[in-house]
Amino acid sequence: NYPARVRLIDVGPRDGLQNEKQPVPAAVKIELVHRLQAAGLWEIEVTSYVSPKWVPQMADNHAVMAGITRQPGVRYSVLTPNLKGFEAALADRPDEIVVFGAASEAFSQKNINCSIAESIERFAPVVEAARKAGIAVRGAMSCTVGCPYEGDIAPERVGMLARLMKGIGVQRVDVADTIGVGTPLKVQRAIEATLAHYDIDHISGHFHDTYGQALANTLAALQMGVWNFQSSVAGLGGCPYAKGATGNVATEDVVYLLHGLGIDTGIDLEALADTGAWISERLGRPTGSRVGRALLAK
Ligand code: HMG
Ligand code: MG
Repeated sequence: NYPARVRLIDVGPRDGLQNEKQPVPAAVKIELVHRLQAAGLWEIEVTSYVSPKWVPQMADNHAVMAGITRQPGVRYSVLTPNLKGFEAALADRPDEIVVFGAASEAFSQKNINCSIAESIERFAPVVEAARKAGIAVRGAMSCTVGCPYEGDIAPERVGMLARLMKGIGVQRVDVADTIGVGTPLKVQRAIEATLAHYDIDHISGHFHDTYGQALANTLAALQMGVWNFQSSVAGLGGCPYAKGATGNVATEDVVYLLHGLGIDTGIDLEALADTGAWISERLGRPTGSRVGRALLAK
């Protein structure tokens, strides 16, 4: 019993490129966004307003946001870890901002330089300001199954973070497997813990594919009724504060799975695969999408 339609949020321009060592020109990021929306993506995570010392690749956030031609009906989201980031983002009028916390204390420290409790204190005024400005708020929850520093993460910790996110007014949350160590039952337990605080329409799956489990985890989440997922064209990416973690599950691969199940995505798989091939070529590496490779070889 699967959802009839699924909304995919392509995080390639942000999660996909943030860890890229070579500087990617803003013009390439802008074209990537344009190609994704032309392929039928409803939601695109464009950039982040974080410290350029921590993540140099996202330092061109203003140029990228100013450079995109927005398509009506498409939602453009950006990451904002604190008020400073939010204020910078506000000028660029994102449709949604993302605060990002973790179910692991160690990861919270490494990624955003504060404890989980402190992160919530930082997010609270950001959420309030965003809601006042009519901007939607999503909360990313990292390390919901495993942490590169702490190992396995218990579902209770995920539930605790979801409760805190809810408490400050975050409207929907991502259950993220940051380092791609999850397997279907573990992911289902993390989602179950989140369901104590958010309904199924406000939970999305964010699966990295390090251990090749992301599609299985996607299917497991679909079986629970989750119908929002983040993925990255060509499987780009990795988190700079999660050593060894590979990219998100490739959007092409998820679309192939969904269409095979008869689930509507509104996405043109061929145009998407072309986009994956295009950006991979720009980065000088083969696509990380199995489906993209197969379609290319046809
Ligand atoms: P901090 O050092 O604790 O911040 O960093 P601070 O408030 O003490 O400020 C220190 C300096 O940073 C100051 O500059 C601030 O102005 C500046 P200085 O006086 O030294 O020149 N600063 C900023 N600059 C630009 N934008 C800002 C900002 N805030 C402070 N917003 C901070 C805290 C969060 C900023 C830092 O730790 C940071 O930037 N971290 C980067 C985190 C990141 O981008 N991680 C990757 C994204 S999360 C992810 O990929 C996971 C996800 O995909 C889900 C999953 O897979 O798990 C979402
Ligand atoms: Mg991620």
